[in-house]
Amino acid sequence: MTPPCREWVNASIRRIEMERTRCAETHLLKVELPSMPGLTLYLKDETTHLTGSLKHRLARSLFLYALCNGRIGPNSTVVEASSGSTAVSEAYFARLLGLRFIAVMPSTTTAEKQAEIVANGGEVHLVDEPGEIYAAAIRIADGTGGCYLDQFTFAERAVDWRVDNIAQSIFHQMSEEEHRVPTWVVCGAGTGGTAATIGRYIRYRGLATRLCLADPVESVYHRHMADRNVRTWRGRSVIEGIGRPQVEASFVADLIERTIAVPDAASIAAARVMSRFIGRSCGGSTGTNLWASLLIMQEMAAAGERGALVTILCDSGERYRSTLFEDTWLAKRKLSCAPYQRQLEAMLAVPDVSSDPARPEPIQASPPRARVGG
Ligand SMILES: Cc1ncc(COP(=O)(O)O)c(C=O)c1O
Repeated sequence: MTPPCREWVNASIRRIEMERTRCAETHLLKVELPSMPGLTLYLKDETTHLTGSLKHRLARSLFLYALCNGRIGPNSTVVEASSGSTAVSEAYFARLLGLRFIAVMPSTTTAEKQAEIVANGGEVHLVDEPGEIYAAAIRIADGTGGCYLDQFTFAERAVDWRVDNIAQSIFHQMSEEEHRVPTWVVCGAGTGGTAATIGRYIRYRGLATRLCLADPVESVYHRHMADRNVRTWRGRSVIEGIGRPQVEASFVADLIERTIAVPDAASIAAARVMSRFIGRSCGGSTGTNLWASLLIMQEMAAAGERGALVTILCDSGERYRSTLFEDTWLAKRKLSCAPYQRQLEAMLAVPDVSSDPARPEPIQASPPRARVGG
């Protein structure tokens, strides 16, 4: 790449900083669970970012990092390997800077997410094997003389874990609550960047909060946590965004104090049931977070503990309307959510929350069963 024009780089950084200033923080929702008095669940609702997921933060950081490293110039094609959500946000930032953007993704990525990338001005390149996305992205970047943003390597270092991040926002928003230091934060790992930011922030601020990783059963991460020699796993999960076939460079295992492996059907059941229960549409990785969170809360309740647990509403179920919220799609893949739905209903002590297939509906379509405060 020819040395990027410094004025263009300066102006681009300024544009991104202006965008940040125009954006509002996301809400921390308080969910009252009548079945678990003394315990409170909080959801960091990242769906309200302009590009619909927690990846808005990461995309902004990756662009700034690449610009400040001299890797992006006015004629660069920007390329990323992604399961979709990051690419949606990166397409938005590429357009903000007037750059071509190509997302390399598994062919199983939902049509909804592909459409959002295109709507944000990006291009989609699909590969058959999820493990092929990295090599294909490098090939395209080399072929176009462009920049491979490489979220899986750079997520943990592009994000400032001391200030101005999701962890600081969560703990600030908790500061007036009854239990202002949550007992647990539960999150999934795609790149591992979000977990690394939260884990580092907890230590930096000297907080007693513990970090739990919620991981799809077919992901390598929980296997790696049990045995650090395990670095790859040839499993397939239908939960997009989290769980990986290889331990990514941005995954910092030492920050995680507990791991819960979640079957895909349990994640889907949790996404569907909780979408109704809280009146906010939840995607698959949020279902994984919620399933693990409710298991921990159940344990805390059984032990007579009081306190708070925070987890993340990563993206909306609308992005999975044609897959995780479609019964025929689930049946074809022999995914049976019913047993998990019943378990959830018992945990929540609310009969019948999922009596209809629980497709994501406009938020006001049915009254939420839980009291959810912003
Ligand atoms: C929907 C969704 N949830 C969660 C994550 C995990 O975040 P991280 O990459 O910071 O580990 C991702 C990552 O792509 C995602 O797309």
